[in-house]
Amino acid sequence: MKKIDDLKQYVSEQLANDATGHDFSHIIRVANLAKEISNQTDNADLLIVLTAAYLHDVIDDKLVENTYDKQKEVQSKLKELDYTSSQIDEVMDSITHMSYSANLKHHYELTINGQIVQDADRLDAIGAIGIARAMYFGGHFGDTLYDPQQVPRSDMDKSQYRKHTTVINHFYEKLFKLPELMNTSVAKKMADKRSKYMHDFVREFKNEWRGIQ
Ligand code: ADP
Ligand code: NI
Repeated sequence: MKKIDDLKQYVSEQLANDATGHDFSHIIRVANLAKEISNQTDNADLLIVLTAAYLHDVIDDKLVENTYDKQKEVQSKLKELDYTSSQIDEVMDSITHMSYSANLKHHYELTINGQIVQDADRLDAIGAIGIARAMYFGGHFGDTLYDPQQVPRSDMDKSQYRKHTTVINHFYEKLFKLPELMNTSVAKKMADKRSKYMHDFVREFKNEWRGIQ
């Protein structure tokens, strides 16, 4: 798809310098997962799914300072590539409402295409890749790896969520919750497998920490 090839180029330039686990390889994995989920889900529109997958982190407030300007830039880019205004609206609505942090205190209803991209993004936060990304993210921000005295938090709003505790707490505060939050049945199946691997990892980690062989 020509539109998607053009978008890929734009997004790779936007995320070229990321060192928090939101680099272009994350985007490619999300796009591939989203495609796979689309193939097994009724009523998916692959153009919308792939467009939202490629763009979903370009407007993220963790990664850009002025999200309003960035959203306007993305909209112009899509116009330039001949997307219709209803396609642009669906993509923008999906990518601005899909993040975990945006849904902490309010559950946004996404279209089926938005739900697929949300599932794909969440799948890339769990399993072996998810473990690596959490460690990488925590290292980037200088977070403590683990502290048994610090209890995982619950019922956080976005600003509390953004104040990190420890990397291991992040598994309890977000990653272990993701399988239950999957929208599509195909993603739920993949999430259960990845989640089991993460639970095994955290169990081993804590055993080794306590010196249990
Ligand atoms: P969203 O963009 O959906 O709100 P996040 O910002 O929570 O998602 O997370 C994006 C990625 O960064 C995920 O892989 C996640 O595990 C990782 N991450 C976010 N917060 C932390 C944290 N406090 N410690 C470790 N990893 C984190
Ligand atoms: Ni993402």
